[in-house]
Amino acid sequence: MVDLKHVPGDMDTESFRRYGHELVEWIADYLSHSERYPVLSRVQPGEVRDALPKRAPEHGEDFDLILADFERVILPGITHWNHPGFLGYFAITGSSPGVLAEFLTAALNAQGMLWRTSPAVTELEEVALAWLRQLLGLPASFEGVIYDTASTSSLHALATARHAAVPDVRQRGLAGRPDVPPLRVYCSDHAHSSIDKAVMALGLGHAGLRKISADEAYRMRADALQQAIAEDRAAGLRPIAVVATVGTTSTTSVDPVPAIADICAAEQLWLHVDAAYAGVAAMLPDRRDTLAGCDRADSLVVNPHKWLFTPFDLSAFYCRRMDTLREAFSLTPEYLKTSEAGAVRNLMDTGVQLGRRFRALKLWMILRYFGAEGIRERLATHMQLAGTFAHWVDESRDFERLAPVPFSVVCFRFHPRDRPLSEQDLEALNSRLLDAVNRTGEVFLSHTKLDGRFSLRLAIGHIRTTERHVARAWELLQQHAERIGGQA
Ligand SMILES: Cc1ncc(COP(=O)(O)O)c(C=O)c1O
Repeated sequence: MVDLKHVPGDMDTESFRRYGHELVEWIADYLSHSERYPVLSRVQPGEVRDALPKRAPEHGEDFDLILADFERVILPGITHWNHPGFLGYFAITGSSPGVLAEFLTAALNAQGMLWRTSPAVTELEEVALAWLRQLLGLPASFEGVIYDTASTSSLHALATARHAAVPDVRQRGLAGRPDVPPLRVYCSDHAHSSIDKAVMALGLGHAGLRKISADEAYRMRADALQQAIAEDRAAGLRPIAVVATVGTTSTTSVDPVPAIADICAAEQLWLHVDAAYAGVAAMLPDRRDTLAGCDRADSLVVNPHKWLFTPFDLSAFYCRRMDTLREAFSLTPEYLKTSEAGAVRNLMDTGVQLGRRFRALKLWMILRYFGAEGIRERLATHMQLAGTFAHWVDESRDFERLAPVPFSVVCFRFHPRDRPLSEQDLEALNSRLLDAVNRTGEVFLSHTKLDGRFSLRLAIGHIRTTERHVARAWELLQQHAERIGGQA
């Protein structure tokens, strides 16, 4: 017998207990004082890498030393998504119950590929997704599955649409088939880039995605969609799916899902709704209309890791035709056959990946700990704060708003009125302003482009962001705008 007792390796129970307590203290402190760090990391490219040895150690090291290096080398290279001044992209939150759930998930290390490899992984996923579905007001005909990200959810949606249109694709593929005309997918020109990546990965080619123009409020034009489908059919192409977005990435605009659903029904196309960010707003009774028409979608994605206080990653995918998805993806090698197959769900049948993390635990704990009421209050507060900021912009002489504010994101720019400035000048000015404000370390904002206009973007989604942080962002923007404007 080999005796590994004196070989360095896993931690003994007492050390684990000690470091566990120490880390919980550290995390509690971090979550309540994340403002002491600059939001956007200040390291230079290569700095973290170069501060670390080129090779793994031959001999195990002391955990105190490892933790010291975590603080010294790793932490400065972190951009603090859990900082209340994080107002970029879609601001998110790793809430405390979610962090604790992740701790348990890591400890259990349960892998949910089969029902038997941890029945609770499969069944809790079913329960948590049914709770979330009810809160969103979606019908029971939607079956859910958890993936890592919305990109993966949309990839599965479009793979299933492809399978529905060409059922032998799984066997024969698409290449060199005179019997299958080029397939077409449609989305607005404001849809997320994950849709582009999905068609590329599915062998439809980027040219297989047709971008439909948007109206003045950045929503897909249903009449343009109808016309594009007719043109493509006349040209011998085969439309298979439409992706509508509820909460586009740049402006959070909402495509007209009811009108798009009518077109999909008449044309027999798969309708996938990307509600990754904004879908959760439908939990508010006065925002139920957020998901209007989505009950008629074939599939829909909502990301709890965006605006539902869930630590990254967790994407909730709902499908009314999960059997088609299973037809597209299930494949059981001998070594994964089980006697209970048929009587239970095996999560490996619902997608590409075999192994699955126990993600449902954090969603379940968050839904319980916050309660629907706690979630609704926070979502409403974020939308109010965005409204307040939009009001400040609207009232200001030298800033202008560039898009409506349906949820918690404001698109705007600095536009001094006393001088004629080209689009190029405005872009340079706003880009400098963005860098200057982000360099303060107090807040972090990101940008986008709308109709060729460089736009600053302020997104509220962190649980600890209050009016104080939004007001500070506005103060910094004004201060730096004055300085940069004066120099321009
Ligand atoms: C509308 C929309 N869909 C999809 C995504 C992709 O999300 P994920 O990072 O979960 O793949 C994003 C990311 O911001 C998004 O804004």
